[in-house]
Amino acid sequence: MKFLSIQEAINKGRGKVAVHGWIYRERGSNEFKFIILRDSSNIIQCVLKKEKFKKQWEEIDKLQIEASLEIEGIIRADKRAPTGYEISADKINIIGLSNEFPIQKDLNEELLGDRRHLWLRSRKMVSALKIRSAVIFALHEYMHKNGFVEVEAPSLSGATSEGGAETFEVKYFDKKAYLTQSWQFYAENIINAVEKAYAIAPSFRAERSRTPWHVTEFWHFEVEVAWMNLQDDMKLAEECIIYTIQKILKENKKELEILGADISILKKIKAPFKRINYKEAIEKLNEQGHKIKYGSDFGANEERELAKYYGKNFLFVTNYPLEILKFYHGEDSKNPGTGTNFNLLAPNVGEMVDGSQREPDLKKIVERLKKAKMDLGASDWYLDSRRYGSVPHAGFGLGIERFAAWICGFDTIKDSIPFPRTPTRLNP
Ligand code: 4AD
Ligand code: MG
Repeated sequence: MKFLSIQEAINKGRGKVAVHGWIYRERGSNEFKFIILRDSSNIIQCVLKKEKFKKQWEEIDKLQIEASLEIEGIIRADKRAPTGYEISADKINIIGLSNEFPIQKDLNEELLGDRRHLWLRSRKMVSALKIRSAVIFALHEYMHKNGFVEVEAPSLSGATSEGGAETFEVKYFDKKAYLTQSWQFYAENIINAVEKAYAIAPSFRAERSRTPWHVTEFWHFEVEVAWMNLQDDMKLAEECIIYTIQKILKENKKELEILGADISILKKIKAPFKRINYKEAIEKLNEQGHKIKYGSDFGANEERELAKYYGKNFLFVTNYPLEILKFYHGEDSKNPGTGTNFNLLAPNVGEMVDGSQREPDLKKIVERLKKAKMDLGASDWYLDSRRYGSVPHAGFGLGIERFAAWICGFDTIKDSIPFPRTPTRLNP
């Protein structure tokens, strides 16, 4: 018999079916064994009658959580069963026995981390993995539908980009190499070839931050576009986000339900997101009792608060003072001293997207580098984008985990990546 996924068997709802999966829960009595079987699609209650399985009973009786099985039997609706259906088994094939499964309720974060590879089998984590996958797929789909070219850049590089201190150094034969922090330097050159480029790839940050919103290896959705200004860059970020949320609302209802995500929050998100500038943001925060000086960066806490003050919606903050920006952000000619940049803040999460219209002028960018006492060193090739036919251009970077965690309603991004890397976790 052909195996159906558990969800397909439930959809069939009657007659003979064969399914395979792992034991999610089990309980036995003298006459019956109840097995709730799981696969990635759903769970289903299976009942095995002792009198039907006399020869195998000893084995069946001993089955533990997470043993793998094939079961054939008759499926029918049963209101008492956890997913409304039950399979009355005629045949069971025990494929892999299981030791006592080392994941029980109330394990602390550290132990769950040690057993991450097993914890991924939980319904919560399966749903989180599916939403993450759906986020990545939706972004790819949006970009391809809109004429973008996916262009990869190396993860190993001869120099750092976003900032020296936060770079992982690795041995590269007899030289030093660095793990990429961002695709952007490559991208700003690539767009002189393909105009509209994007990539979804890991970025590495040697940050010791132990916040719920930082990992040392995250997946980075980065976009760069030639001939684009700040306004259109923000619109593009907004559209990618709305497209993804809409698609997930349509196609991942079940996962959102298992996670207990608040769908009304997702439904409320509509374009255009509110746009304020850095100065207004400071004023708003100080009105609410914070004490921030113009020219200092927001803390993550303040970012989250800000989004809340503006109706728990996404919030664009533009025009940060140049002193706290990277050298590559452009300067706003209408508001000198501030950047043509934005951060998109999400409630609970804080910064989710960081982008800007870039400084296109070679002289100005060199000045900015000097001011920042920066030497691009082996990355000087980056400036060739300004030396050979520089054009106005803009782009942004969005952290996949922060976006997925926001969608799932998680309070940490560590559940939005299969195997999170943090300053203290390299295994599994
Ligand atoms: O703000 P960041 O550092 O900006 C850049 O890297 C630019 N080069 C992007 C660009 O314009 N192409 O990172 C961009 C986003 C952040 O807004 C955040 O969502 C995410 O990447 N991010 C992290 N996510 C998880 N853990 C970390 N340690 C992260 N650091 C940044
Ligand atoms: Mg940033």
